[in-house]
Amino acid sequence: MAKWHKAVAEDGFQKTFRFAHRRKEIAIFRLEDGIFATDNSCSHEYSPLCEGMIVDGDVYCPKHGSRFDIRTGAVKDFPATRPVKTYEVKVEDGFVWVKA
Ligand code: FES
Repeated sequence: MAKWHKAVAEDGFQKTFRFAHRRKEIAIFRLEDGIFATDNSCSHEYSPLCEGMIVDGDVYCPKHGSRFDIRTGAVKDFPATRPVKTYEVKVEDGFVWVKA
């Protein structure tokens, strides 16, 4: 069952943060309307999405350019065909928490 994990201070990152949790990495994104989290690994060939370019709420994979909706994990451009997992996020006591 998923539990809340303290990931990073709310003011401890600018646009992205790589949160290592157990054997996986979660990418935390700061958008204009809030903070969101997805698997850090691109569903195509596992490149780190937290290093990608962010445009209008989407992240472009730094390796081959697949585009994912940060809020839903949906694929918007090839070559990836599978979405990335998203995680619930909350901000509490000055920290970003991720449910994973
Ligand atoms: S590894 Fe992300 S698009 Fe290929």
